[in-house]
Parts: sequence; structure tokens; C-alpha cells
Amino acid sequence: MPRRHLFEFHDMPWFPGAWRDVITDLLKVFSIHSHPYRCMVPMLSEALRRSHPETILDLCSGSSGPWEDLKARLEESGLDLPVVLTDKYPHRSAIQQAWPREGIRYLEESVDATKVPAHLSGFRTLFASFHHFRPAEAQRILQDAVEACSGIAIMEITRWSWRWFFASLFSPIFFWIASPFVLRPFTWRHLVWIYLLPFPVLFTVWDSLVSGLRTYSPQELEAMIHFPRAETYQWKIGERTATWACTVTYLVGAPRLEA
Ligand SMILES: C[S@@+](CC[C@H](N)C(=O)[O-])C[C@H]1O[C@@H](n2cnc3c(N)ncnc32)[C@H](O)[C@@H]1O
Repeated sequence: MPRRHLFEFHDMPWFPGAWRDVITDLLKVFSIHSHPYRCMVPMLSEALRRSHPETILDLCSGSSGPWEDLKARLEESGLDLPVVLTDKYPHRSAIQQAWPREGIRYLEESVDATKVPAHLSGFRTLFASFHHFRPAEAQRILQDAVEACSGIAIMEITRWSWRWFFASLFSPIFFWIASPFVLRPFTWRHLVWIYLLPFPVLFTVWDSLVSGLRTYSPQELEAMIHFPRAETYQWKIGERTATWACTVTYLVGAPRLEA
């Protein structure tokens, strides 16, 4: 199926911030419950070692996605790097929350992934978010990382398939059951917007289906890495089965080692 750039509700500037925060909280519920990115830890560690960053700069962080778990997995592999979370619409409670793990902080300023300010350095990561960008913008994100001499890792858990279609359709049941066990802190806002007036949960079904349609295939990612100095990086592009419902599509770029 060719990629279709339909709209997602939580991308819209007019979408209520409280609902956007709940939608990204639900994504975090999935990341923490199912650990779809754990299979990518060895490749991510290798790219980090090759890039020698002082920081990891996560773009489009939402509610922090997989970072609480990934930070622990990277530490186990000997990489104890601070993680800076950023978003165009920073998650309001994630900015203030006390992280269960040291070395994670969330920036209060809005950071647009297509215009990363020069003072924010570090190895760039984008989880479940590269599909938000049209091809020219997406390529620009890759090129900008190379121009800034930063490594970059893009990982997507969405992909158009019948499995994804049914998983998206029935995802509210998963969120209703799993949220109180996984979300920390579980607040009255979650109670209202997940159970009593579950509009964000219903918008998640649409956003999830559309994300599947917007996700770049490995072939489309391959076609993007043609720009000045792209050859100075080693690019790894492919897919890996993560859970029964999702496959991780990845693009990981890090500077080539000098011979
Ligand atoms: C699907 S969520 C992914 C959140 C998180 N990475 C995760 O894995 O749970 C996409 C996020 O991208 C953010 N976003 C959308 N457009 C953006 C842009 N141009 N720059 C930075 N963030 C953006 C949204 O606010 C949202 O938090």
C-alpha cells in the first residue's frame, strides 16, 4: 500500500493539550508494557559508541515513550548517557515529574524536530514519530543530523498491516485494562479522560490507523539517504519483529569509523 499522509488529531495545533498529553501517555503505556524497542538496544548501543555523544537528544518525545526502560537497558550495556526529552508541544506534567531514573530531563521550551536549535547537541532519537513528517521534511531531519555531526536513530512501531489494523481497532480495550497498572503517576486526569469521558482514547484509534498508513517503508527510508555528506555516515535500515502486533522499522545513522 503506498504511503498516505492523512492527518492525525494530536498533530493539530488546535487539539486540546490535555488530550494530546493523554494520547502520548497511552503510547507510553504500550511502550512500557510491551517493550517494542528492546530488540533494538544492541544496534542503538553500537551507534551511540560510534558517535561518542555527551547526551541523547530525543525529539518528538510525547510523554517520554520508551525512555524510562531504554535508559536502564543502555546502562546495563555500559552506556550511562543523560537523556534530554523534547517536543513541539511539551507534555505538561512530564516537564515537572520526578523521573524514576536519574539522568532524564524534559525541556520546557518547544523544540521543532525540523529546526533543532544549534545549542541542543547530542545523538538524536525519534520514536514513533518520523511518520509525522512529509518526505522533504523527513529527509531534512536526517540531513540536519549529519550537518550537526550527530548520530540519529529513528524507530517506528507502526506499519500498515491487517494485524496493525485490528490491534489499533481494539487498542482501547488494552488501554482501559493496562493504564492503571502502568501509568505512574495515575492522576484524576487519567481517570476522567481515559474512563469517564474517553475522547482521547477514541482519537487514538484514528491516529494509530493513520500512523500505519504514514509510516515509511525501509525502501522509502533508503531513498531518503541521498544528500550531501550522507556517505560519511553508516546507515542501517530494516525491520525487526518486536511483538505479535508490531514490527519495528528502523533507520540508524552514525559516522563511519576512520580506516
Ligand atoms: C506519536 S507521538 C510519539 C511520542 C513518543 N516519542 C513515544 O514514542 O511515545 C508523536 C509526538 O511528536 C510530536 N510532534 C509532532 N510534530 C512535531 C514536530 N514538528 N517537532 C517536534 N515534535 C513534534 C507530538 O507532539 C507528539 O508528542
